[in-house]
Amino acid sequence: MTQVSRIVILTGAGISAESGIDTFRDHGGLWEKHSIEDVATPQGFARDPDLVLGFYDARRAALADVEPNAAHVALARLEREFRGQFLLVTQNVDDLHERGGSTNVCHMHGELKSALCNACETRSRWEGPMLERPPCPVCQAPTLRPDVVWFGEIPYQMRRIEEAMLQCDLFVSIGTSGAVYPAAGFVQQAKRLGARTLELNLEPSEGTAIFHEARHGPATQVVPAWVDEVLGG
Ligand code: NAD
Ligand code: APR
Repeated sequence: MTQVSRIVILTGAGISAESGIDTFRDHGGLWEKHSIEDVATPQGFARDPDLVLGFYDARRAALADVEPNAAHVALARLEREFRGQFLLVTQNVDDLHERGGSTNVCHMHGELKSALCNACETRSRWEGPMLERPPCPVCQAPTLRPDVVWFGEIPYQMRRIEEAMLQCDLFVSIGTSGAVYPAAGFVQQAKRLGARTLELNLEPSEGTAIFHEARHGPATQVVPAWVDEVLGG
């Protein structure tokens, strides 16, 4: 691999699949079992808050049963050992990057272990359930919702991501179908700005032809192999 000095990485559900977390759009994925309109939109939450709170309570609780895998650990090693600029952006709401050792993760779709108060708009670390309407730790109102970006809402930290995209010379997309904007547009943006683009995914994604290079296989194999190459080369 040619020398690179500024890397932006985008991860999606695929990087956590081998840890045992369902992806969204693969066969048997979350969006086959639940309707997006019901559990991942503000309108769904307004219609049936118990359904939505219960859905995310279960996903939050399930994090206790999963461990980071070799792909998460490899990206943490890259953060520690890469001598250039590095930004890890994830669409995932799990905490497996952090538990794998990454310290600076940009969660553009929010986090399961965070609560957003609909009254005072404060974001607070949150480990337990929300279905019982616990009080907000800041304003005490019983108005918490999962701090997860739903369809129709604006993702977090877009400015920080755009700044890193403007400067990067390598953009790598890992374990994402590239079906959801704005993340799905990052590859085009990176290319336009002159960066090299690489897809690491189980199989070719719909947008695979857009990338300069694509390597297909399980994340636990292709990601550590690629990190070895970057750090060794
Ligand atoms: P959209 O406006 O519904 O959603 C895209 C925007 O919402 C982006 O800014 C995105 O980042 C954000 N977003 C909000 N919640 C999100 C979440 N939970 N996960 C990821 N991103 C989230 O526009 P769209 O993507 O063009 O979708 C149009 C329609 O298609 C919507 O009604 C949507 O429900 C549906 N859709 C279905 C699927 C599917 O897999 N079946 C996938 C995407 C969209
Ligand atoms: N290794 C690598 N890639 C894998 C693996 C694996 N073991 N298993 C599955 N994949 C790939 C699939 O081939 C697919 O391309 O991971 C991708 C998962 O895609 P999606 O389920 O669409 O997940 P993602 O791209 O993260 O979804 C984007 O949609 O609804 C929202 O909020 C949700 O952040 C999510 C966003």
